[in-house]
Amino acid sequence: MSNDVLVAVFNADDGGLDPNVWTQLKDWLQPEERVRADKYKDMEARAAFLIGRGMARAMLSEVTGVHPATWQFAEGAHGRPEVAAPDTPYHFNLAHSHGAVACIVGRDREIGVDVEFLKRPVASHDVAARVCAPDELEDVNAADETERQERFLVYWTLKEAYLKARGLGISVPLADVAFTLANGQPTFAPRGTLADADTRWAFRLAQPNDTHLLAVAVDTRNGVEPNIRFQRFANNRFPIA
Ligand SMILES: CC(C)(COP(=O)(O)OP(=O)(O)OC[C@H]1O[C@@H](n2cnc3c(N)ncnc32)[C@H](O)[C@@H]1OP(=O)(O)O)[C@@H](O)C(=O)NCCC(=O)NCCS
Repeated sequence: MSNDVLVAVFNADDGGLDPNVWTQLKDWLQPEERVRADKYKDMEARAAFLIGRGMARAMLSEVTGVHPATWQFAEGAHGRPEVAAPDTPYHFNLAHSHGAVACIVGRDREIGVDVEFLKRPVASHDVAARVCAPDELEDVNAADETERQERFLVYWTLKEAYLKARGLGISVPLADVAFTLANGQPTFAPRGTLADADTRWAFRLAQPNDTHLLAVAVDTRNGVEPNIRFQRFANNRFPIA
């Protein structure tokens, strides 16, 4: 799968996490992840964490043949979880929001994913002005009222996906991670502190269900065009012992 970049989404609305799978996913966790899972008092948040880490292990295992329980993760730049062992050219990234959990897996390139709930509270003008570049803000404000929130979230998810791929966290102003949209297709137009950033990135937007929006950022600096494949991820894709 050297060119393949897999983007899978688990939708809790499809029936939730099977209890047998829940037990299995917990068994795959390394000790510090187990401590973290137990700290989530909100069961939805705990499930999202378990599903995300489980999807990462299952998908890494699908492409390498390594058993899911073997994968060890460590926190890299700004807390980004990365594969620590076994040694592999594969990378992953995760996102979760209101019952949707997304996992992206790719080889020899930086990758990032973000998923957002479309029905979340509408961003205030102040937030939009802080997050958006001037052209983006103009585009958001030009949208009619029913579409404005979604247009804002399109930019938001693209920005987060890029920052997550780069592992930059909050060190970069979101307004500098800028995009232009033509017929719904994003073009990366970095500015300000990112004015010199490499633009050889591929971005995709998708709507995995009626209530969520998803963006992926895929590094294309190695000159190999990615084959970005969107998939659904259900309980039966977890390899249960
Ligand atoms: C830290 C951050 C990645 C978390 O994002 P979030 O929207 O709260 O949550 P998401 O569901 O998108 O992503 C969470 C997952 O991203 C991964 N992650 C955590 N830190 C990461 C980082 N620095 N880079 C990439 N991925 C990261 C983890 O897998 C995490 O899930 P898990 O710990 O349960 O496995 C994100 O807030 C961030 O760095 N944003 C930078 C931009 C910013 O400032 N946004 C807020 C503006 S007000």
